[in-house]
Amino acid sequence: MNKLDSELVAGLLAKSDYQPTSDPAEAQVAILNTCSVRDHAEQKALSRLGHFDHLRRTSGKPEIIAIMGCFAQRSPEYILQRVPFVDVLCGPSQIHQLPELITTTRRDREKSKKIHTKRAVTDFRQIRSGKASPADDLENLDLCRPVEETQFQRFVRVQRGCDKFCSYCVVPFVRGPESSRPVDHILEEVRRIDQTGCKEITLIGQTISSYRFVSDGQTVDLPELLYRVHQACSIPRIRFITSYPADFSLNIFKAIAELRRICPYLHLPAQHGSNRVLQLMNRKYAVETYLEILEQGRRIVPGLSVAGDFIVGFPTETDQDHNHSITLLENVRYKNCFIFKYSVRPGTLAEKRFTDDVSDEIKSRRHRQMLEVQDRISREDNQSLVGKTVDVLVEGISKKNRSNQENVKQLVGRTVEDKIVIFEGPETLKGEIERVKITAVSSLTLFAERCNGRN
Ligand code: 5AD
Ligand code: SF4
Repeated sequence: MNKLDSELVAGLLAKSDYQPTSDPAEAQVAILNTCSVRDHAEQKALSRLGHFDHLRRTSGKPEIIAIMGCFAQRSPEYILQRVPFVDVLCGPSQIHQLPELITTTRRDREKSKKIHTKRAVTDFRQIRSGKASPADDLENLDLCRPVEETQFQRFVRVQRGCDKFCSYCVVPFVRGPESSRPVDHILEEVRRIDQTGCKEITLIGQTISSYRFVSDGQTVDLPELLYRVHQACSIPRIRFITSYPADFSLNIFKAIAELRRICPYLHLPAQHGSNRVLQLMNRKYAVETYLEILEQGRRIVPGLSVAGDFIVGFPTETDQDHNHSITLLENVRYKNCFIFKYSVRPGTLAEKRFTDDVSDEIKSRRHRQMLEVQDRISREDNQSLVGKTVDVLVEGISKKNRSNQENVKQLVGRTVEDKIVIFEGPETLKGEIERVKITAVSSLTLFAERCNGRN
């Protein structure tokens, strides 16, 4: 979501004649997009803002320091207290106003030489209680997004906000109520993207499995949306994230199985392996249901690749609960898992109801254990791929490029199952789908060589 919002803001600013720069000391405007899911992300944002302030004091630039995203939405007062030099605060549902906020702030400052903090944050309580509605302008922003020929991977928003209120999670408070985008808008955007020769789109929503929009008297759910998107474009790879286990329909698997260009990949966070903890988390399913969904999924879509999220150290978590999470890892055999240490989020149900009573030491130990188990599973499963050929969408030069030859680089890309592959080839393959043969593996990476042998 944040990557997409950053792209939208970059597009908007380009329309107002701003050019991007990679050097903040050269920038007239620095905008930090922020995440509030864990405290650590917020603290990192504050320190990055401090760095911008330091630059401004020494070099006079950036002239304007702006903060956008969930942190700006969650606690504008706290931000102003900690980093009073910030000029503009903008929540995720006001990003369409950001260029205007920047322009007026710049004008004001030239006039009065005084820093004005312009804010644009929504009161979601009003929206939830029906007293206000989210801005249509925001929908138009998504719809009118500039389509660049060079972007071979694109995100398409299909849903905003979240109504699940998992007890630990800040998202429903900062991204507002769940709403599904009109199906026509999604299809229009997909068609425009298709015309640029884009290779991969990822449909995104916090709980995309609950997508539902009534169009011409007919309810379009996620499986139906997948059929329509598939039919509307010839984009070779179509993904969708993130699914919520409780409102998962088996028709989603049928759509993946029937539609060739829908990637056999699912991000289906379990969050925990203990039913007792799942209940405290307000996750509305039991471990048994979760396993059943995946069992059916793997039957309908052989080779289905599954990624997950887990939280360790949720209040009251015992060693026994933790062992249930490890058992779930072993049972599911995820492609990869994101494992997080519980972080108290102000205003959430968990903050109000429970004490953060698992020590950081125990959280770290459990976190390490989970990572070790998942690491072993990923390595074992990857091992069986050695000698196989796969198609890789090349994303660019690998960060660890060790090749010093001019026209042969170490490239990185992904398979349809979202596995990361590294192989040698010319940089011109960026944005292309290339067939390679796997020669070696680690837990997170497949190493390969090009099948046609031309290096
Ligand atoms: N503490 C730790 N992890 C969290 N997540 C969400 N809220 C918290 C929190 N308070 C994790 C969940 C979610 C992912 C995006 O972040 O696993 O799926
Ligand atoms: Fe947060 Fe739960 Fe919504 Fe995911 S489903 S965004 S974890 S409240």
